[in-house]
This record gives sequence, structure tokens and C-alpha cells, in this order.
Amino acid sequence: MNFSQRDFRDALGLFPTGVAVVTATSPHGYELGITVNSFVSVSLDPPLVSFNIGRSLKCFDELMGCKSFAIHILRHDQTGVSLGFGRPNDEKWREIEWKVGVTGSPIFLPHLAVFECERYADCEAGDHVIIVSRVVHFEVNVEDSALIFYRGAYHRVGEILHNKRKAEAGECSYRTGAG
Ligand SMILES: Cc1cc2nc3c(=O)[nH]c(=O)nc-3n(C[C@H](O)[C@H](O)[C@H](O)COP(=O)(O)O)c2cc1C
Repeated sequence: MNFSQRDFRDALGLFPTGVAVVTATSPHGYELGITVNSFVSVSLDPPLVSFNIGRSLKCFDELMGCKSFAIHILRHDQTGVSLGFGRPNDEKWREIEWKVGVTGSPIFLPHLAVFECERYADCEAGDHVIIVSRVVHFEVNVEDSALIFYRGAYHRVGEILHNKRKAEAGECSYRTGAG
């Protein structure tokens, strides 16, 4: 390996992601929550999504014991929520109002979307475990815009450069660059 972990992290940070908070009820009955930017859509049929959990998390063993999760996609104005759930912190839930969702995981508002899932498969992946989950219920609030994580900083969604659906419907005023 001819690169440092710092350089590797910086290179990975060139890929912009959304920001999500994964919540669950621990096998011991209390609320768990971590910020992740490793949320990925995996399959439409069956409806699968995934996220990665670090082995160094304090709540790693508890999360590995959970059978269901709720994945909240954050809005652009929720950097505080991302920071609150994004580091070791005994008071993650102190200012969060939540209710129990359909799979038993804590659900909080607001969010851009929440996917309620049941655990489907795990994949060992170095210092992380990839958790694949099957979506059984979701809710969306599409009038809001997403929080973006890019190069270690938070952003909001910017200018639309091309919209495939609108282009196909002849509603685009901008050109595709094809000539
Ligand atoms: C923007 C952002 C993205 C993160 N993505 C992940 C992730 O995908 N997987 C992960 O295990 N931790 C991720 N973290 C770190 C965890 O959220 C953090 O280590 C965790 O909340 C600490 O929980 P603990 O108190 O149980 O150790 C991320 C943090 C931030 C701020």
C-alpha cells in the first residue's frame, strides 16, 4: 500500500453523499442512533438498502444484535442532528422527540425520508460490517432538500445541471452538451 489512510479518506471524500441517521432499539431496550454517509440503495426487488457500521463504534455490539432499523435521510437544515448522532455522545437523544415506528425502531421528525427496515444480510468488510436491510415501510417529504456531505463539509443541493425526466418530456431549457 503506497498511500496513507489520511490521503485515502480525502480521496473518498471527493464522492458527495447524502447524510442519514440510522436508529434502532437495542436488544436491551434503549435507543441507538448513528450518523452514516454509507447509505446505499441496493435492490428494488426485493427492496434492499445498505449502510456500513464501524467495528470501533461503542454501540457496535448492540447494533449487531438488532433485527430492525430506521434510516432517516436528513434535510439541508439538519447539520446539528448529523453532528449530534455523528460522534460518541451519551446525550444523543436528549433533545430528540421520537415515536416508535412500524418495526419498533425510534422515528424522529423532521426528515426528508425514513426507511423502516428489517435486517436481511451482513457482509464482513474490513474494519466495517455492511448491513443489508429489507425496506418494509417508508415515508417521504419531498418538498425539502437533502443535506450533502462532501470533502468533509456539509452542503446543500445546488444548481440542477440536467434533469433526465424533464429533458425527455421536452421541458428543459438547458442543453445536454451533446451538440
Ligand atoms: C457525516 C458523517 C458520516 C458518518 N458515516 C458513518 C458510517 O457510514 N458508518 C459508521 O460506522 N460511522 C459513521 N460516522 C461516525 C458515527 O456516526 C459515529 O462514530 C457514531 O455516532 C459514534 O457512536 P458510538 O457512540 O456508539 O461510538 C459518520 C459520522 C459523520 C459525522
